Amino acid sequence: MSEASHNTPDVLPYGRQSIDADDIAAVVEVLTSDWLTTGPKVREFEDALAEHTGVAHAVAVSNGTAALHAMMHACQIGPGDEVIVPTLTFAASANCVVYQGGTPVFVDVEPDTLLVDPEAVEAAITDRTRALIAVDYAGQPCDYRRLHEIADRHGLTLVADACHSLGGSYQQQPVGSLTRATAVSFHPVRRIATAEPKPPRAFCVR
Ligand SMILES: Cc1ncc(COP(=O)(O)O)c(C=O)c1O
Repeated sequence: MSEASHNTPDVLPYGRQSIDADDIAAVVEVLTSDWLTTGPKVREFEDALAEHTGVAHAVAVSNGTAALHAMMHACQIGPGDEVIVPTLTFAASANCVVYQGGTPVFVDVEPDTLLVDPEAVEAAITDRTRALIAVDYAGQPCDYRRLHEIADRHGLTLVADACHSLGGSYQQQPVGSLTRATAVSFHPVRRIATAEPKPPRAFCVR
């Protein structure tokens, strides 16, 4: 752990990333290359992620929140559409619906796994429901067999918020390949960490 850590010995650590000399050399290689914005390393990263998760395409965006937003855009969620989201998650799983003008409909999780309860999903479906965002909480994939069965029966698009579960699997299938689209995150507290991947932004307010 680096000396610059915010963690103190007597409280639970927020995160303990492992950054070794090879990681630092890889960053220096990029910083001293001609490509500081989207360049060959991004393509390399996307190809490696697609191979690892067994999918045809992986697309790099700035963070998991942006990935969720892109998925809702791709699902053509808009005003009047409802999207089912579990109650126990980070705000981004529901905000991505709001960004599109849609309405998140919250359903409960199962007490033993803290994963979305398929029966609660079924009970929340209305004629405005378009999609379901399954959240793999704390590294555990949801019950995708049951969720697919419900989604197929009601004509819903099932997508996954797998920001906590990259590297996991469900019935021998890797996380990433379990639904039509999957959002993953490389925030510093994830299983594979990058630096906080948000570019600096500035607003000038007069
Ligand atoms: C379940 C879940 N989904 C999405 C996100 C958003 O990911 P990111 O921080 O990369 O935007 C988080 C972040 O904590 C999360 O816990």
